[in-house]
Amino acid sequence: MNALPAREGYRLWAPRYNAETAVSHLEERLVAEFVAPTEDRALLDVGCGTARRLSQANASIAVGIDLAPEMLARSQGKITLAAADALALPLRDGWFDVVWCRLVIGHVRDCTAAYAELSRVCRSGGAVIVTDFHPDAFAAGHRRTFRDASGTVVEVEHHVHLPGAQVAAADQAGLTLLAQREGAVGPEVREFFANANRLDAYHSQLGLNVVLALSFQKSAA
Ligand SMILES: C[S@@+](CC[C@H](N)C(=O)[O-])C[C@H]1O[C@@H](n2cnc3c(N)ncnc32)[C@H](O)[C@@H]1O
Repeated sequence: MNALPAREGYRLWAPRYNAETAVSHLEERLVAEFVAPTEDRALLDVGCGTARRLSQANASIAVGIDLAPEMLARSQGKITLAAADALALPLRDGWFDVVWCRLVIGHVRDCTAAYAELSRVCRSGGAVIVTDFHPDAFAAGHRRTFRDASGTVVEVEHHVHLPGAQVAAADQAGLTLLAQREGAVGPEVREFFANANRLDAYHSQLGLNVVLALSFQKSAA
């Protein structure tokens, strides 16, 4: 299967993107466990998609950036949104208390450049949270896929960035690792497999890491 570039993939995925999956469910829980409150903070969500997480964050200022206008068009609520690339954020330095980049960095070839941008827009002492499709899942043969309007399985490009490479890129950008967590297939997500009549896959994937979550703090200037 030829993988589509992210811009084209999410144009097609946008109408159905908000359906939660085992990966998105685990990802949300892992981020919630990090100590990086968003209430009454200035929050930036890089690769916010439909802004489904941003709209729930109770931030005093909520800004979302995404490459795909079709994803942004599905957002609800009063959020400031802009179509732009994570590698060239149209935002000034050091402004946000919390910067999220959730399930996006694997779509970016150059994770060093991505971390540099995430760090640039975060204030000193602020939090940067990055999640990714886990390299273990990719190594086990799983891919970033969805079904388009015709029911055809479509793959979106994904670049593997090992946890160590991400932590090194973050460190180079002035971000200190606070916590690393993994989300694995287990009872918590069994219902997603059951609802899709894929309990065979559930049993074969049991214990496989599918989400990587990293929490960083921006060093003081
Ligand atoms: C898996 S979705 C995650 C959306 C959202 N963060 C969430 O968790 O619901 C990945 C998103 O990243 C966006 N994206 C991919 N590459 C990007 C880039 N270089 N710059 C900005 N957004 C990008 C896609 O358009 C898509 O909306």
